[in-house]
Amino acid sequence: MSEATTTMTMDKGLDHTIIGESTKSFIDGQKGVLEYVGIDIDSLARNSTFEETCFLLWNDRLPTPDELEAYTRRIRSHYDLSDAMWDAVRAVPHGAPPMHVLQAMVAMLAFEDPACDDQSRDAEEEKAIRILAKTPAIIANFDRVRKGLEIVRPDAGDDIATSFLRMLNGAAPGEASAKALDVCLILHADHGINASTFATMVVVGTESDMYSAVTGAIGTLRGPLHGGANERVMHMLQEIDGLDAVEDFVLGRLSRKEKVPGFGHRVYKAIDPRATYLKTFAESIATETGNLDLFHMSRRIEEIMESQVGAKGIHPNVDFYSATTYYSLGLAIDLFTPIFAMSRNAGWAAHALERLEDNRLIRPRCQYTGPHGAAYIPASER
Ligand SMILES: CC(C)(COP(=O)(O)OP(=O)(O)OC[C@H]1O[C@@H](n2cnc3c(N)ncnc32)[C@H](O)[C@@H]1OP(=O)(O)O)[C@@H](O)C(=O)NCCC(=O)NCCS
Repeated sequence: MSEATTTMTMDKGLDHTIIGESTKSFIDGQKGVLEYVGIDIDSLARNSTFEETCFLLWNDRLPTPDELEAYTRRIRSHYDLSDAMWDAVRAVPHGAPPMHVLQAMVAMLAFEDPACDDQSRDAEEEKAIRILAKTPAIIANFDRVRKGLEIVRPDAGDDIATSFLRMLNGAAPGEASAKALDVCLILHADHGINASTFATMVVVGTESDMYSAVTGAIGTLRGPLHGGANERVMHMLQEIDGLDAVEDFVLGRLSRKEKVPGFGHRVYKAIDPRATYLKTFAESIATETGNLDLFHMSRRIEEIMESQVGAKGIHPNVDFYSATTYYSLGLAIDLFTPIFAMSRNAGWAAHALERLEDNRLIRPRCQYTGPHGAAYIPASER
């Protein structure tokens, strides 16, 4: 080991590294607790709205009614896309993965922002508002365009959840569906320094801009070890041939040392509190929409996983029951992760804005294990 690295420790997944202070979310992985700015996630899911939760995460306190009204108005004033952006939504190849579409379109928002390189808190927050406000229109309308349907522009009278569902389906959603999506957005809004949030911090840490940070985060969230797991859960449920086939399927996967999507977490060794909430929620939505078979299969998978690997601290995570919830809401499977991104915009911006108040370039090192003093061999001699 060289002199420069003798005081360093190898921490490949950064599991044991604290990269700064944060007031945003608190996680107790042993007890299964999640709080946003000190407020329990269950209490927020029952009482708050997604917009109010965003304000909380960005400002470290709940808004007064007037502040919430002004904040909501500000978001809605940015719902619509420019003509160039609508043209771009229409021009995207229909077979493109929606997460890649979202990533490209968020990058495009930078073209239209003359304050892109202004790193003041106000300018960065304005960029975050634009991303938060425009993401639903991008996702919902890409889905419409690929189905050969006309664009539906956002309605500034709607909250984010209602607006998304109205654009997606071309009709006002029922109150229960809009509420269900709003609660899902609250539950996914923040989660400490997860991989995609870390990506935003790495990007803003170089004094790059919020659009670049969020495009990096979207690419990170896409992976099946992170946000992409909810889509994998749904594909797994579709692959299993009914309730009686669940046991063999799960045991087979475990015996082949294959992971079961929607289980396990780097931080939670007790049940993820978001999964507890979503489980009840998934059951009621599945009942209402005639998808109880899916819910029963999910319960059975959970039972078998609990008996096999529960003692190792592997329990359902947020993605497990959100899959049944989204499917019951009639959402296309490849929109599950984009909806996660729609929500996590709140946390990405909260941590990026916080980091900028006390920034330090993030620049870890690795342990070099290659040769030294190697000769350069000309191509003709190799
Ligand atoms: C999320 C995740 C990456 C965190 O894992 P981690 O802290 O890196 O832990 P590891 O992947 O090293 O797993 C530790 C042990 O638990 C097992 N394990 C972890 N998740 C598992 C799962 N979903 N199914 C079966 N076994 C699992 C591993 O095989 C490993 O077993 P071993 O000690 O016998 O080798 C991991 O649990 C996972 O891949 N889950 C599935 C994907 C998913 O749902 N992601 C969304 C997270 S919110």
